[in-house]
Amino acid sequence: MSAQLIEVVAIDDVAGHQFPVAVCVADDVAPGDIYSALLPSGHKLAVYNVDGEFYVTDDTCSHGEASLSEDGMLEGTEVECTWHFGRFDVRTGQACAMPCTHPLRTWGVEIRDGNVWVTGVRPLAGELK
Ligand code: FES
Repeated sequence: MSAQLIEVVAIDDVAGHQFPVAVCVADDVAPGDIYSALLPSGHKLAVYNVDGEFYVTDDTCSHGEASLSEDGMLEGTEVECTWHFGRFDVRTGQACAMPCTHPLRTWGVEIRDGNVWVTGVRPLAGELK
C-alpha cells in the first residue's frame, strides 16, 4: 500500500502532467531575469530570459535547498547560486562550478501566444568532475 503511494507522488512530480503547460507570461521575465513558476503539482521551476531566449530548470539548487529564482544571479547563460557560489549552465543544467557537481533538471520550452510553455522534462546533463 505505501509503495503504491510513493509511486503516485513521483509520477505527479515529474511526468504526471499533460504537456505543454503554460507557466508564465513571457513579458513578465525581462532579459537577464529569473522568474519563479509552478507546475500544476506545485513543483517549482526557474524561468530564465537570456537575451530573449527562454530556458527552464528546476528551481532548487542541486547542492542545497537554495531557490535559484530567489537566490540565483543570471550571468549570460549561467546561473550562480549565491548560497555557495556554485554555477549551472541554464541551457543544459550542467554544473559549471564547485561545490555544485550534480546537474539541474531542465525542461523543454516553447513561447506561444505570449506565454512560456513547458513542453516536458529533458535528459539530465552529466556530472561535473
Ligand atoms: S545551495 Fe546552491 S551552491 Fe550550495
